[in-house]
Amino acid sequence: MSRILIKKARLVDPSQHLDRTGDILIEKGRIKAVGEDLFELEAQVIDARGLVASPSFVDLHVHLRDPGQEYKEDLGSGMRCAVAGGFTTLVCMPNTTPPIDTPEVAQYILRKSEDLGLCRVLPAGAITKGRKGKELVDFYALKRAGCVAFTDDGAPLMDSKLMERALELTAQLGSFVMNHCEDDRLAYGHINEGYVSSLLGIASRSASAEDVLVARDCILAYHTGGHIHLQHLSSSLSLELVRFFKEKGARVTCEVNPYHLLFTERELLSSYALAKVNPPLRKEEDRKALLEGLKEGTIDCIATDHAPHAVWEKGQIEKAMPGMIGLQTALPMMLELVREEVISLSRMVELLSCRPARILGIDSCGTLKEGTRANLVLFDPEKEWVLEEKTNYSKSQNTPLWKRRLRGKVMYTIFEGRLVYQDV
Ligand code: DOR
Repeated sequence: MSRILIKKARLVDPSQHLDRTGDILIEKGRIKAVGEDLFELEAQVIDARGLVASPSFVDLHVHLRDPGQEYKEDLGSGMRCAVAGGFTTLVCMPNTTPPIDTPEVAQYILRKSEDLGLCRVLPAGAITKGRKGKELVDFYALKRAGCVAFTDDGAPLMDSKLMERALELTAQLGSFVMNHCEDDRLAYGHINEGYVSSLLGIASRSASAEDVLVARDCILAYHTGGHIHLQHLSSSLSLELVRFFKEKGARVTCEVNPYHLLFTERELLSSYALAKVNPPLRKEEDRKALLEGLKEGTIDCIATDHAPHAVWEKGQIEKAMPGMIGLQTALPMMLELVREEVISLSRMVELLSCRPARILGIDSCGTLKEGTRANLVLFDPEKEWVLEEKTNYSKSQNTPLWKRRLRGKVMYTIFEGRLVYQDV
């Protein structure tokens, strides 16, 4: 059936300053009407009493491991995780094997994900060939092949001249650079420099490793006019730097990972390697500063940095791969901040959907406006559930939240007018 009628949902759409109870009629892939007491005989009806309907989520930062490391995740499993978490647009990182530094790899991802058809996967191309930090890729060819941004994520670009050139060239193409900011000479250790690293005697990576590159990238964006998107910010000083450069008019945007908002380095004492991530979980002061940044708007969006790893890659902290899966846990984690009254439900939707859609320059998501493509999510903010074998769609299980009770569950996800996920 090509028509779906959603009845009596709480409609939350910051793109239209909308927060009220109402109905949505979807027809031929588009939002046909938003209103009250809508009626349509030939439609699949969803009784949405008690549910929130919002534009579906947009994640600017995921690792889908395909091609090359399909034992951790592949496009199919990653997309299933996405729709179960309420996401219908993903930007996938280029640290694949081979990396996304040629049009062929970008096209492979686009074709395979289009065939799977569950959601939209947009490749981020590498900034440098092989992500080695030495020679720029052909931005024009990669953009033509479908890359929506450029990053060497996981291998921060250290060469300032190359970064300056990358900002200039991508700006000419109407695109942008994303950077994982950690100076690799300063960030040689495994966990945050602080109480836990001293206690456990584990080599650390300092916040200054992040701050130095954030400052450099903001300065280069300011001078070149290029757009830098700073990935997974985690330190309080970084945030102050972003605030400063935004005020100066630099084209700087930034994302935060929900784990940095809810956990500190102390999580390592109970979750061990499952809490290892780059940049690392930091101190309570940093976490509080990030919460402030969410409230007052310096932080543009939430990105999950969904980073699947196999069980055997998450053993001893020093040897473990960094990263956590996050597509299915982002919503309950962000709802925790809504319940704690750090942010409103509307601001949460803005962070997960409207703002990242605008950063990408895509107007077919991030809104429930009549006439736009029907990309939306219906979630129960109160429903409790557990992420475990039978609810997890990822091939991996690496999160400190594994088998913990979560509150807030996606019930339906609609992509281009089609129901692509339904809680059973
Ligand atoms: O923790 C991380 N994991 N940080 C990164 O930058 C890369 C990612 C991964 O690919 O596993």
